[in-house]
Amino acid sequence: MKNICVCQLFFVILRPKGKINSMKEHNLITKMRSYQWDELTEEQRAVLTIAKEQTQRSYCPYSHFHVGAAAKLANGEVVRGCNQENAAYPSGLCAERSALFAAGAQYPDQAVTKLAIACYTGGHFTKEPGAPCGACRQVMLETEHRYGGKMEVLLYGENETYVFESASDLLPLIFVSENLKG
Ligand code: THU
Repeated sequence: MKNICVCQLFFVILRPKGKINSMKEHNLITKMRSYQWDELTEEQRAVLTIAKEQTQRSYCPYSHFHVGAAAKLANGEVVRGCNQENAAYPSGLCAERSALFAAGAQYPDQAVTKLAIACYTGGHFTKEPGAPCGACRQVMLETEHRYGGKMEVLLYGENETYVFESASDLLPLIFVSENLKG
């Protein structure tokens, strides 16, 4: 305990004075709206309904956590996805990425305008929306960036649905192709 105090004292004394005020706090603000089912638009409900259906096609013998996804494209098509697990766990894939990669493979020229996600476990849909994992957020961002417009993200919950106007609202401080240029 004593040693720690001495170290702290040295740090305070030796810290270069000029740097004391250079630290800045940045508040990264993100935006999300929550809706009751009947407050959503017909188009939003339609794509969410497909995501809900997709939970029943999920292959999740290990987690028993069924995730469904539906990607609505600019041409009106809806590409379906769901989580695909594997005995070698890391070889599996999340529902969101399965839908986005399938969309990219089948319709490479079509922007994804909406991505809906629903989770089902223990015999019912989750009360609150499930939060997409970090890897899926990164892929959502690349998809949005690739087509140059916004991709709305809809997260279904029995109690409420979260709506993000843009995938970038799910992942502040983004890493996209421009960052590779330095
Ligand atoms: N899962 C998804 O499909 N999407 C996510 O964003 C989070 C997790 C899946 C992966 C795995 O099959 C199961 O949910 C439990 O983690």
